[in-house]
Amino acid sequence: MKQPFHPTIGIIGGGQLGKMLIESAMPWNVQYNVLDPDPSASCKAYAKTFINAGLKDREAIKELAKISDVLTYEIEHVNTEVLLELEKAGKIIIPSPSILQIIQDKNLQKKFYTDNHLPTASYMLVEKKEEWINGLNQIEGEKIVAKLCKGGYDGKGVSICTKKDIEAGNIPFEGPCIIEKFIEGCRELAILVASNGTETITWPSIEMDFDPKLNLVDFLFSPGNVDRAIEEKASEIAIAVIRALNGKGVFAVELFITPQGEILINEIAPRPHNSGHHTIEACITSQYEQLNRILLNLPLGNTDLIKPAVMVNIIGPENLTGDYKLEGLDMAMQIPGFYLHLYKKNETRPGRKMGHYTVLADTLEDAIIKALEIKETLKIVPIG
Ligand SMILES: Nc1ncnc2c1ncn2[C@@H]1O[C@H](COP(=O)(O)OP(=O)(O)OP(=O)(O)O)[C@@H](O)[C@H]1O
Ligand SMILES: [Mg+2]
Repeated sequence: MKQPFHPTIGIIGGGQLGKMLIESAMPWNVQYNVLDPDPSASCKAYAKTFINAGLKDREAIKELAKISDVLTYEIEHVNTEVLLELEKAGKIIIPSPSILQIIQDKNLQKKFYTDNHLPTASYMLVEKKEEWINGLNQIEGEKIVAKLCKGGYDGKGVSICTKKDIEAGNIPFEGPCIIEKFIEGCRELAILVASNGTETITWPSIEMDFDPKLNLVDFLFSPGNVDRAIEEKASEIAIAVIRALNGKGVFAVELFITPQGEILINEIAPRPHNSGHHTIEACITSQYEQLNRILLNLPLGNTDLIKPAVMVNIIGPENLTGDYKLEGLDMAMQIPGFYLHLYKKNETRPGRKMGHYTVLADTLEDAIIKALEIKETLKIVPIG
């Protein structure tokens, strides 16, 4: 660590995750260099040096490495080859690009879980039409989930199909895919994991889509509404997979809980995650502060939940592209325990993550009621 304390962290990707990473260490005199292809990226205003270049741009990534003490990334779709070269040459990159290489390819990810005897839904690698058809026979049930091996995000590159559809020739993606068993009636849990290489810890569980009747898919809440035994088992599995990866950094382990109480690993994100935004206000140490601690070689912080929390993404509405404003803020701001984050995006697009809010309350039920009230009024709308 340099003395006095003014290290420079390089981030590949300048979106909202990078922005919140920077915000969390602002009181610490840390400086950040950021690389992003969007000239108006969320992080730009915070960057000491902003490199406007593609996430796969070798020379630009090397430049970022040259001017930064340590490197991290807030998105998976980056140039891993150049990061591996830089790491080999002694650059500290957290998490290691060798982990990113596994995570970037859903087939390698699934193979890693099965090779390490970690629970995951059964799957097949498919590309040619006959492989798709043969693959169907290996997987139980009427429905399957198809996932592009590379390049998917936010559900893009994932398709739930019936076997009949595939047999009729409706293959959803071109290129290598995995097809896996569709887990009927599963609940989704995320366990955030932090590791500094020696100590590996988790945060309290986060659950998504808690009420299928209300279809609140964009609600996330913590602690998850699961038995203590499931919470403990889920944390054990999450720690086991990060240890198996030899992971250093902050990771989100997405899990499925089957109606029978079986826990299956869906996927891992090797970075702070959408499901951990609430940790900023709800936990003693947020996922962002924790990653900064790891990048700066400082001790891990306590991850306890201060209060139950609900997090809601503020999403660009279907019918609007371009300029926008946020409506309903006056009402939301009167609710104690409401915390707003906007991502500095200068135009809205359908489905785009524009911001989020977290609601804390003494009980989860209260936090849900308040979050629902806010959801009714807080909206992205056109200007004028
Ligand atoms: N095997 C499965 N059974 C049931 N549902 C599934 C299965 N696989 C994926 N899903 C559903 O599809 C969603 C997206 O899948 P996945 O997380 O693998 O893709 P992703 O593109 O990385 O998405 P994101 O970026 O939103 O996490 C899951 O959160 C889950 O709701
Ligand atoms: Mg996912």
